[in-house]
Amino acid sequence: MHLDVAFLGFGNVNRALAQLLLRKASTLQTDYGITFNVVGIATHSRGRAINPAGLNLGDALERVTRGESLQPLGSGTEPPDTLEFITRCPADLFFEATPTNPRDGQPALSYVRTALGKGAHVVSANKGPVAFGYRELAALARERGVGFFFESTVLDGAPALGIGREGLPAAHIRRIRGVFNSTTNYILTRMEADGLDLEAAICEAQAIGIAETDPTLDVDGWDSAIKTVIMANVLMGADLRPSDVEPVGVGEITLERVRQAQADGKRIRLICLAERDQGAVRVSVRPELVSLDDPLASVSGTSSLIEYETDTLHRLTVIEHDPGPDTTAYGLLADMVNLARGRHLAA
Ligand SMILES: NC(=O)c1ccc[n+]([C@@H]2O[C@H](COP(=O)([O-])OP(=O)(O)OC[C@H]3O[C@@H](n4cnc5c(N)ncnc54)[C@H](OP(=O)(O)O)[C@@H]3O)[C@@H](O)[C@H]2O)c1
Repeated sequence: MHLDVAFLGFGNVNRALAQLLLRKASTLQTDYGITFNVVGIATHSRGRAINPAGLNLGDALERVTRGESLQPLGSGTEPPDTLEFITRCPADLFFEATPTNPRDGQPALSYVRTALGKGAHVVSANKGPVAFGYRELAALARERGVGFFFESTVLDGAPALGIGREGLPAAHIRRIRGVFNSTTNYILTRMEADGLDLEAAICEAQAIGIAETDPTLDVDGWDSAIKTVIMANVLMGADLRPSDVEPVGVGEITLERVRQAQADGKRIRLICLAERDQGAVRVSVRPELVSLDDPLASVSGTSSLIEYETDTLHRLTVIEHDPGPDTTAYGLLADMVNLARGRHLAA
């Protein structure tokens, strides 16, 4: 399969994907019959370039490193905005990795809708469009006969969604439980291991670049809530929105509570839960005490964990160690391969 691809956003994730695509080009061709050509890149402040003949990915990466605009790599006039870019760009596949908007998923929701609507495949790392528009977007993709893949939205590149969708045929998922947010897990771990108070632990997370300048999306539990809703909607047939979760984050956790938990032989973890309950799916995000023999207690630092409880395999646990843009990029690459395998046609 040959794919003309374009990048929406060229930040940490899509640049890591660009490097991975260059590194894996021969594997993709030899093992999966996939060849690709990059026909466009859109950013917010570094320009937009469309080139139907193909633009050089190495040049694009170097330009961004030097702080230069991507626009000279394009042929023809520069599209004035991202929607116009999507409309004009002759890509078969858009890699969408623009920022997540936790309030309504926009403008990325419109980007994905526009790309699918014109009959292009979309592979996204952005939680917003999935959390706020999964049913609509999946139906649109089916109607147009294209793929809408988003493995990297939960647990970065680990196949958290893929296990549920592909790896558990005929199983009934009763419950999904996990630690989905790296930043809060890192904060709790530093409080436990080094006796830092909450504020100092947040500063440490910012210093190593895993927490935003405004860390409230993570600390207040919204990032976890969005991921929990994605799991519930995609794997358990729910139709929830992040506001249905009413998350409780780690903002009220004190060093005293962390120490008391340790004295009681327990740990505090920010637990995401989606559970079947009398025909509905109940979701929650809140700090909980977990005993040391619970796998959830063993996830430390930036690692994440997901546990599926099913009627066939009982409990199945996956841990992703030390995720980052590179592992997220792998999720996008894996989605591209699954697209070429025609997985969307079976959905
Ligand atoms: N970082 C991770 O490991 C990770 C893990 C899982 C999921 N994700 C998700 O992946 C997405 C990207 O993350 P990231 O770390 O790569 O973010 P990032 O480094 O901030 O990059 C975002 C990119 O999007 C561009 N952009 C912003 N608004 C845009 C618009 N309206 N149209 C076109 N491009 C636009 C930015 O342009 P400029 O270059 O001009 O600023 C930048 O290139 C986010 O939704 C994030 O939640 C990230």
